[in-house]
Amino acid sequence: MSLKYESIVPWGRSFDEYVEMFKLTESELEKEILGCGDGPASFNSTMKKKGRTVVSIDPIYQLSKEEIEKRIDETYKEVMDRTSKNMDKFIWTNIKDVEHLGEIRMAAMKEFLQDYDVGKIENRYAFAQLPILPFKDNQFDIALSSHFLFLYSDNLSFEFHKKAINEMLRVSKEVRIFPLLDINGARSAYVYDIMKLYSDYGYYVQEVYVDYEFQKGGNSMLKIGKSR
Ligand SMILES: C[S@@+](CC[C@H](N)C(=O)[O-])C[C@H]1O[C@@H](n2cnc3c(N)ncnc32)[C@H](O)[C@@H]1O
Repeated sequence: MSLKYESIVPWGRSFDEYVEMFKLTESELEKEILGCGDGPASFNSTMKKKGRTVVSIDPIYQLSKEEIEKRIDETYKEVMDRTSKNMDKFIWTNIKDVEHLGEIRMAAMKEFLQDYDVGKIENRYAFAQLPILPFKDNQFDIALSSHFLFLYSDNLSFEFHKKAINEMLRVSKEVRIFPLLDINGARSAYVYDIMKLYSDYGYYVQEVYVDYEFQKGGNSMLKIGKSR
């Protein structure tokens, strides 16, 4: 069965998953980090507990905590059902089964929800959406996209990806995107052309293999940097 979501779902991963997906080192965690499309992930909240500040942007941050909670509840069943029907597309080692997946995702999203109102006041959660970011040139060291760019290649055009990455590179020195797969577990049709385009522009472009793999074959991220 092929996986297709009608819309881009609010679904959140944990701090540990972000560290693994983006191979973030201790010294990189000290840098200025922007999370694009962080949604209800708990990376920002856990970083705050560790005494570090991350800025996250997402269109869902225009909603109240209660409204986001409701959207998560609506999404939960859809994602669980579709994952159950597509078990063969995932690797069930660290995450043991669909029930376990539900537990760890809900734990991350609950942590996000507890932090959301304070984080908004502290400007750690900002309502914005790619391809436009309300930040100054080079304000950040690293801009991350987890489970947004490439994953929704069916919903978002190549032109959108280019505009979004240009904007992320305007506000930060380096962009990291994970995964390079689409929602169906196939390598996104855009990866090759994006890599070529930014290499031709003179950026440092590298596919970096990481220890994280849940979608089968989803064990690499794309790094695009202004310098090596
Ligand atoms: C599948 S979730 C991923 C959440 C988080 N990054 C993670 O990996 O756990 C995709 C997120 O992309 C957000 N999104 C949708 N359109 C967006 C846009 N134009 N710019 C930035 N984020 C967007 C959604 O609201 C949602 O929170």
